[in-house]
Amino acid sequence: MTTRLTTCTVLGGVTVLSLALAGCGGARSDGGGDSTGGDGQTVTLKFSHVTTDATPKGKAALWFEKELEKRTNGRVDVQVYSNSSLYGDKDEMQAIQQNSVQMLAPSSAKFTTVASALQVLDLPFLFDSPEDIPTVAAPDTAVGKAIYANENLKAKKMKVLGLWDSGMKQIHSNNVTKMPADMKGKKYRIQPSDVLKSQIEAWGGQAEAIAFAEVYSALQQGVIDGGENTYSNIQSQNMHTVQSNIAESDHGYLGYVLVINTDFYDSLPADVQDTLVKVADEASTYNRKNATAVNEESKQTIEKDGTTKINVLTPQERKAFKDLVVPKLYEQYRSLIGPEIIDELLAKKN
Ligand code: LMR
Repeated sequence: MTTRLTTCTVLGGVTVLSLALAGCGGARSDGGGDSTGGDGQTVTLKFSHVTTDATPKGKAALWFEKELEKRTNGRVDVQVYSNSSLYGDKDEMQAIQQNSVQMLAPSSAKFTTVASALQVLDLPFLFDSPEDIPTVAAPDTAVGKAIYANENLKAKKMKVLGLWDSGMKQIHSNNVTKMPADMKGKKYRIQPSDVLKSQIEAWGGQAEAIAFAEVYSALQQGVIDGGENTYSNIQSQNMHTVQSNIAESDHGYLGYVLVINTDFYDSLPADVQDTLVKVADEASTYNRKNATAVNEESKQTIEKDGTTKINVLTPQERKAFKDLVVPKLYEQYRSLIGPEIIDELLAKKN
C-alpha cells in the first residue's frame, strides 16, 4: 500500500496535513510486522451501539469486527462498544458527526431530528412479518431510497452501509393488553419519534420518550407503565423482570440504519473501502438470518424466567390496533415522510 498525504479539516475548522493511511478518521497506531498490512499502520474504527452483545445488532457488530479485521489483514482495528458503554441515545448522533465514533447502527426512530423521513420505518403495521422487510425496503423502492439515498444523512456526514433488524415489537406492561382500550391513560416509553408518539396516543395511551439505557429503571421505579420493544431488547435489558405482561402484537418494526462517518470512510484506501462495504453488506445478511431466532430464544428465556405472561393477540385483537392507525398515521405523516413513499406503502396495503 502507498502512503499518502491527506488534507484534513478537523473540528474547530483547523486544517492539518497528515501523512496517513487513515486520513482524518479514527485513531491511528503504528503497528509492526505483517499483521498491520504493507505500510505498518493500523486504523481504528470505533463502532458504538446501545444493545447488548447477545442481541441481533450486538451479534452482527461482533461479526463485522471479526470479518473486517480478518479480511483487511489487521489494517482496520474495529472496536465495538455495546450497551451504551461509549455513547448512548443522547450523544451518539453528535459523536458520529464529529467523527468521535466512526460507525453506529441506531434505530430509525433515533434519526428523527437528523433525517425525519426515516420515521417511515416506525409506521405501525408497515410489515406483517420480518420476512417482508427486504421486499418493502429494497434499495429500489421508495422506502429503500429514503434510507439508502437520504440527502439529510449525507449532509450530516453519514453514509448508509445497510439496514439491520432487531425484529417486530411487542407491548410490555403490568396489565393484560388485548385491546387498545387496555392502554387508556397508561404511560408507555417510546423512542424519540413523532410517529411512535402518535401511535401510542391513537391507542389511548400516553407516550414518553426515554433513552434505551434508562428504560429498565424507569419501569422499575414506575415512572412509566410499559413500552414497546422486541423480545431480544426486552429480555437482554431485563425489562421483563419488572413487567408482568407482554402482548405479542407484532405491531411495528424495529430496524437499524448502519452508518459510517463519511470523512473517515473517504480517508480509507480504495481497497479497504471496498472490503468494508462488502463486509457490512454480508453483516446485514448475517443479521437478518439470525434476528428471528435470537428473538425466539429471548421469548423462551422470558417464558422460563416465569416473571411475565405472554399473550399472543388474536387476529381480531391485532386488527383493532391496526384499524386505529392505518391509514390514519400514514396520512398524518404524508408530508414529513414523503408523499411518494406513503403512496407506495398504501398501494401495497390495498
Ligand atoms: C430502543 O431504544 O428501544 C431501541 O432503539 C434500542 C435498539 O437499539 O435496539
